[in-house]
Amino acid sequence: MNDAPYALELRKVTKRFGDIVAVDGIDLQVPQGEFFSLLGPSGCGKTTTLRMIAGFEEPTEGTLLLAGKEGNEIPPFRRNTNLVFQSYALFPHMTVFENVAFGPRRARLPEPEVRERVMAALETVRMAGLAERLPRSLSGGQRQRVALARALVNRPAVLLLDEPLGALDLKLRKEMQLELKRIQREVGICFVYVTHDQEEAMTMSDRLAVMNEGRIEQIGTPEEVYHRPATRFVAEFIGEANILEATVDRVEDGSPVQVSIEDGTTTTVASCNEADCEVGSRVLVVLRPEHLQLHRSRPEDLPATEGRVAEVIFQGSVIRFVVERLAGGTLTVLDTTATPHRAAPGDGVWVSWLPEWAHVVSSSDL
Ligand SMILES: Nc1ncnc2c1ncn2[C@@H]1O[C@H](COP(=O)(O)OP(=O)(O)OP(=O)(O)O)[C@@H](O)[C@H]1O
Ligand SMILES: [Mg+2]
Repeated sequence: MNDAPYALELRKVTKRFGDIVAVDGIDLQVPQGEFFSLLGPSGCGKTTTLRMIAGFEEPTEGTLLLAGKEGNEIPPFRRNTNLVFQSYALFPHMTVFENVAFGPRRARLPEPEVRERVMAALETVRMAGLAERLPRSLSGGQRQRVALARALVNRPAVLLLDEPLGALDLKLRKEMQLELKRIQREVGICFVYVTHDQEEAMTMSDRLAVMNEGRIEQIGTPEEVYHRPATRFVAEFIGEANILEATVDRVEDGSPVQVSIEDGTTTTVASCNEADCEVGSRVLVVLRPEHLQLHRSRPEDLPATEGRVAEVIFQGSVIRFVVERLAGGTLTVLDTTATPHRAAPGDGVWVSWLPEWAHVVSSSDL
């Protein structure tokens, strides 16, 4: 079974609830051992997708394969998947040990094996020392670890996690993100992780799918979706994006290599998601705030646009400038506080960018 090319594969999977299209013809392939995330805003179909993988919902159309086998009709308890929810619902009257032992005991494993498996799962989540505690005496992070052990003890081929850290405070959530990543690496199984938090998805995932209104807009590594977003939606959902409208000046192999923004500034661009671009096409240039720089006067050898500083916000390690462009719209510039900053609200400035990071997306969803 481990020879199957993918732990999980979805082919043109759609789920409708009456008139609502919750999931709209998605394709995805998750190899064995990958940490894969489904990322997107509320209501985009993440939970529905996960529930279909777990077998709690049946696809309206399309095919789901688990370890290469068609799985649409396999009932949840026969699938080699396990789902971990945000509300981890431990049995309150059972100890940590008994909570984790529940699955293996129900599967009628011999008691010595139950014990061995439970303790191994508790070791993995670093809870072996608290095996005799009751859930109410545990912190939120500890309860989440027990919930995870309760899933891992069943040795699923795919572990499905639906916003499992949503109830934790920020600091604990960040610790648990690294913990989950360590655990995934250690047990070596495939994790499919649902979140609407882009930072969380980038921190943990080998690859992620960005979903919007039931569809997948892009699948890629965190670096790919950040530096080369496929659409405006992805550019704005992942990190922060400055978007400039532009016209294509020069094309090589179907890709724009030089564009003009509305105020006449020309810039070379590094990458583009659109095939078959033509000279004169309208496109959008995506510029990340950390690739922008402020100048007192027009820089000589960098593309730049003119504006006025509207806000300067100190954020600790970085400082954020909001600049109102003379041509309209605003730009966000991020600088580290290691360099002394030179601009104050009201200052006239030029904002330049590094063309080697300028990325073009289609203007069709303008
Ligand atoms: N059982 C159901 N009956 C009717 N509509 C449903 C059902 N389950 C989900 N939906 C709808 O399907 C769409 C996708 O829901 P889903 O729960 O998958 O979103 P989500 O991405 O998990 O959102 P969130 O981040 O808020 O959890 C929503 O419009 C939701 O209202
Ligand atoms: Mg959900």
